Amino acid sequence: MSEPIPRRPDGRPLWYGRRQGHKLRPSRRALIDELLPKLRLDAGAAGRVDPAAAFAEPMASYRLEIGFGGGEHLAGQAARHPDVGFIGCEPFVNGVAALLAEIEAENLSNIRVFDDDVRLILGRFSEAAFDRVYILFADPWPKTRHQRRRILQTGTLDQLAGIVRPGGSLIFATDHLEYATFALERLCRHPAWRWTAEGAGDWRHPPQDWVETRYEAKAKQRGLKPVYLTFERRT
Ligand SMILES: C[S@@+](CC[C@H](N)C(=O)[O-])C[C@H]1O[C@@H](n2cnc3c(N)ncnc32)[C@H](O)[C@@H]1O
Repeated sequence: MSEPIPRRPDGRPLWYGRRQGHKLRPSRRALIDELLPKLRLDAGAAGRVDPAAAFAEPMASYRLEIGFGGGEHLAGQAARHPDVGFIGCEPFVNGVAALLAEIEAENLSNIRVFDDDVRLILGRFSEAAFDRVYILFADPWPKTRHQRRRILQTGTLDQLAGIVRPGGSLIFATDHLEYATFALERLCRHPAWRWTAEGAGDWRHPPQDWVETRYEAKAKQRGLKPVYLTFERRT
């Protein structure tokens, strides 16, 4: 059974994260005002959202990153894979501005941004639209009474199963062991997902083609050992 998403009276999912941190410096503010409108994913008010429609040319495949933070991983992947279209979701405006700065500096043309809560759009993406989805170092909400705030819930996994193509993957990384256990419990009992680990310790190493995220680097500096879990969408 999926857990219901807690909602506000206007129907939006309840949001517990930060929208804005320190005041943006003028160059970052200008990126939000001028570049973001050009790269913002146009989701419309209703109906299906096809990632392919967000790019001028058809791309080889499409990937989604949920909660990209400062966008280091997203920009790094996009630079390595110019033939892949990337959609990044992040409501924290300072993080979005940091990603835009990277897009501009590296002249990246294969990223589109949904600068809001991913839960507003997740169930609207076209069926099997994505080849890969990343959820990296998501907020762990460690207190038991806050666990339903976690992004990784059975309902999210149902929606992800609809938008990831069979054979595609979901990559979940965390530095919080209890969140890793929580994720494994939900994913391993979900009929659409198969954990791809082949040996003990697989989960200690990042998948190939990895770009380190800011939270990951901070966790390692604190002596934590991140956990990397890859799940395949069953056919
Ligand atoms: C702990 S940070 C990790 C950021 C980045 N992935 C990293 O590893 O450096 C979690 C991020 O997820 C974002 N986030 C939380 N809930 C979200 C949601 N419902 N939709 C999109 N992003 C979300 C937060 O704003 C925050 O930037």
